[in-house]
Amino acid sequence: MNETDQFVFSEELETAILALKDHYPDPHAVVIPALYQVQDAYGHLSDESLIRLGDLLNVPAAEILGTLTFYTMFRRKAEGQFHINVCKNLSCHLTGSRDLRKHIETSLGISVGETSADGLFTLGEVECLGACTESPVIEVDGEYHFRVTPEKADEILDDYRRRAGEERRSPGAD
Ligand code: FES
Repeated sequence: MNETDQFVFSEELETAILALKDHYPDPHAVVIPALYQVQDAYGHLSDESLIRLGDLLNVPAAEILGTLTFYTMFRRKAEGQFHINVCKNLSCHLTGSRDLRKHIETSLGISVGETSADGLFTLGEVECLGACTESPVIEVDGEYHFRVTPEKADEILDDYRRRAGEERRSPGAD
């Protein structure tokens, strides 16, 4: 946090943050809405972005960091377009979720808590997803996949890759 760097926001983002400042007499009150703006722009809140935001708001970056750690909606690490959760609770454990998780880690080249190099997938592990009779279960952005074998997991990953490709080609995509 103490490194000085040349990180700058886009002109559009800086303008939006400075506009927020006009609405709040106390710069500390701008921190939360400004953090949302930065996270929307970059997907997460890096050290560099906190330093830049601190410069813009005249609020120490360490103070901004202290504020954001109270809120679970802010992300400090980059996350993938899709968030995969592998259930690790008893039923899923007994039906192979550990091997399934390892297979997904190998397929994506990451460990739990990390994001794939292509930026598509972040892998997590969770407690019971409430579908124990269909174990092992994985959930991807709210979509449940039941009785997942390693082979099926690869098909599921390919399906999300396809979807990401279609979104990129869609004229309405960001
Ligand atoms: Fe995995 Fe319940 S133990 S869904």
